[in-house]
Amino acid sequence: MRLVLVGPPGAGKGTQAEFVAAHLQVPKISTGDIFRANVSQGTELGRRAKEYMDRGDLVPDEVTVAMVRDRLAEDDARKGFLLDGFPRNVPQARILEDMLLDMGTGLDVVLELVVDDEEVVRRLSGRRTCRGCSHVWHVDFDPPSVEGICDACGSELFQRDDDREETIRHRLEVYYEQTAPLVEFYAARGILVGIDATGPVDDITDRAMAALRPHSR
Ligand code: AP5
Repeated sequence: MRLVLVGPPGAGKGTQAEFVAAHLQVPKISTGDIFRANVSQGTELGRRAKEYMDRGDLVPDEVTVAMVRDRLAEDDARKGFLLDGFPRNVPQARILEDMLLDMGTGLDVVLELVVDDEEVVRRLSGRRTCRGCSHVWHVDFDPPSVEGICDACGSELFQRDDDREETIRHRLEVYYEQTAPLVEFYAARGILVGIDATGPVDDITDRAMAALRPHSR
């Protein structure tokens, strides 16, 4: 299956992407994770992306698109993928459409995770991310058994620079201005499904899998 997740920052895209990709046996491709890995490795790409990420703005399309094009050309993405965080605006969506057309394929479905702004702020201000495996935790909603340490791989957890409240509010503005129009874009193509993304993580995964089932092939 070729699937895109959309939703505001903190909707739980990263959290659900891990489980849904495992169920579907496709690679999870997160542009935010790839950028953050480049920032921590000190690469040129990371250096260029960091100033935009820290402000909560989108990284310029030419940088992001080149990175996704390379990733989708890898062997493991041939039979399907789950994109988390890309596309992030209508120009990126059009480029993705062309990229997939060149490969003789297209998206099967776009899954929208629906949550309100106050839930986003609650989730992001308590988020902790693993330096080793990128697994996301939450200090109240999903704490690790030892504070500051990832249960999955034992690495240190950190708080993202863009998870300060004023940056979260700006990321939400960027979302409504640039990313939310994707909902209409994909609805017009008949491939959008939306689910309520509040409540326990497992229930949301169940809802996601039920919504995706009619689109699997
Ligand atoms: P990115 O990493 O994609 O950030 P985002 O879209 O803002 O999304 P988040 O990662 O903040 O949230 P999420 O929805 O994944 O939620 P999560 O599962 O972590 O992008 C970061 C930056 O990179 C962008 O601002 C931009 O600069 C750049 N970038 C990336 N892609 C780009 C692109 N295509 N073009 C240009 N620039 C790009 O969950 C959040 C918290 O909530 C966690 O603590 C989690 O444990 C908790 N949680 C999850 N589910 C639940 C639940 N059901 N109940 C309670 N808590 C929950």
